[in-house]
Amino acid sequence: MNRLNGKVAIVTGAGTRPEDGVGTGRASALLFAREGAKVLIVDRDVESAERTRAEIETEAGEATVFEADVAIESDCRSLVDAAVERYGHLDVVMNNVGIGGGGKVTEIDFDEWDRVQDVDVKSMAMISKYAVPAMERSGSGSIINVSSIDGVRAGAFHNIPYAVAKGGVLILTRAMAVHHGRQGIRVNCIVPGHLDTPMVSALPDEARELRRKAGPLGTVGTGWDIGWAAVFLASDESRWITGVALPVDAGTLAATPLSMYDKIGE
Ligand SMILES: NC(=O)c1ccc[n+]([C@@H]2O[C@H](COP(=O)([O-])OP(=O)(O)OC[C@H]3O[C@@H](n4cnc5c(N)ncnc54)[C@H](O)[C@@H]3O)[C@@H](O)[C@H]2O)c1
Repeated sequence: MNRLNGKVAIVTGAGTRPEDGVGTGRASALLFAREGAKVLIVDRDVESAERTRAEIETEAGEATVFEADVAIESDCRSLVDAAVERYGHLDVVMNNVGIGGGGKVTEIDFDEWDRVQDVDVKSMAMISKYAVPAMERSGSGSIINVSSIDGVRAGAFHNIPYAVAKGGVLILTRAMAVHHGRQGIRVNCIVPGHLDTPMVSALPDEARELRRKAGPLGTVGTGWDIGWAAVFLASDESRWITGVALPVDAGTLAATPLSMYDKIGE
């Protein structure tokens, strides 16, 4: 219960409405706090962020809510400043916010394209721009970016804007890991598979069942699965790991489509 003792962490998109279940950000913020971190809960939906804070405080953890749109640079700067002002230093940033964006290339709405790039990948660069100097002052740091299996391979849906943004997260992670390693800052990326989170709550049961079967483990992933990977990457247990894209996906990226043929038809 003390793997993150003494650490100060920012988690973006750590709200999530309770009626919809637990998203990756909410689960990560709760686990960070249980492991001893002080957490700045960032979300543009302040009510849902307050619920995460209340849950953390019920468990005797420590958290502060910060309302921000991570697509706005001044908000990104302010949220980093807020963490340092409130808790004195900064050790961990989990860049978790992500929104969907659909279409084949012939169908793209380029206003939506711009919004998805801004929210899903530019936000991570903007927050990191201000977090890196703060972590350097702390002597070290861990940045955890959330990508997707759709950023590695063509996804189940036509979603070029989302896929391009999530692919961008991979190279952003690797380049930042190289640029800031000597400052003691590690930068890694989690690559979630088909999770059952609020982001996909509108999917019909048939699609959810297919998503379950698509992974070799054949089980449903949740926000908690991402949260536990984030705890490891945030903690000193991963002190020698940087520049990594860690799939948390029931083995989906290990499979080829035909290797799953018999299992998906089960
Ligand atoms: N759910 C999946 O199957 C899945 C799969 C692969 C990757 N992911 C990634 O995991 C991450 C989280 O997914 P989730 O399903 O938990 O999402 P979610 O929709 O449950 O939570 C996202 C949170 O981000 C907040 N948010 C959205 N835009 C924001 C903005 N501009 N500024 C601040 N806050 C904002 C929302 O209010 C919400 O609380 C995303 O990056 C997503 O792309 C999810």
